[in-house]
Amino acid sequence: MESAPNFAPRKTQSPTVQLQEIDPAAGIWCLDSPLTVLGMPLGHRMTVIRLSSGDLWVHSPVEWSPPLGEALSLLGDVRHVVAPSCQHDLYLEGWSARYRTALFWAAPGLRSQRENVPFSGDLVDQLNPEWAGQIDQCLIDGMPALNEFVFFHPASRSLLVADLAFNLPSSGDFFSRTLLKMNGCTHGFSPSRAFRWMIKDRAAFAASLQHVMVWDFDRIIVSHGDIVERNGKYSMALAFGEFIGLAS
Ligand SMILES: [Fe+2]
Repeated sequence: MESAPNFAPRKTQSPTVQLQEIDPAAGIWCLDSPLTVLGMPLGHRMTVIRLSSGDLWVHSPVEWSPPLGEALSLLGDVRHVVAPSCQHDLYLEGWSARYRTALFWAAPGLRSQRENVPFSGDLVDQLNPEWAGQIDQCLIDGMPALNEFVFFHPASRSLLVADLAFNLPSSGDFFSRTLLKMNGCTHGFSPSRAFRWMIKDRAAFAASLQHVMVWDFDRIIVSHGDIVERNGKYSMALAFGEFIGLAS
């Protein structure tokens, strides 16, 4: 039997990098970093979950730095690093150089694109024994160019998504706002136009969303934009209503 998790920080966090405590009792933190893609200020959010073993599970990492490494070391040992889609693969080399015994997990199709990253294996559309019972996962099917996995952390009732939907604030200069509007990124929690273009099998995509909607989440931690703190299922229904009604 595993011992009860201890979510208390080992000691005071690093003064130079502060991870945001999403739910201290559940052991989940985030760290935001600037990121501009094709002129659009999307930002980039990393999520860290402490497993019952005390090890850390890192989703969509931001660029590693010594201060970040120090902050993480106060929370636990980095054991898993997850690249949740074929387009969320930044900074992995820096992490693999620093955490040589950690396991790196790739969205299907990513390993052939990033042969310099020592991946341990592909994410699979079933419970991963390394984190089963603590984090659930689902492939968003019907999008072979992306193969995004979304994750559910029951302890914090959080859904973790990469590009499934953005939730960008309406700020920035005229140029960036125009670019975001052209990509359909100015409607609150919703999929971008580029994301919609990548859906090749609408029925398979819809079936995946049906699976996700079974999970008992309330919060949605997006990788780009503001976290949806409450009523996440309602936000999902608004954003994907046309698909959620498709699957049989
Ligand atoms: Fe992304």
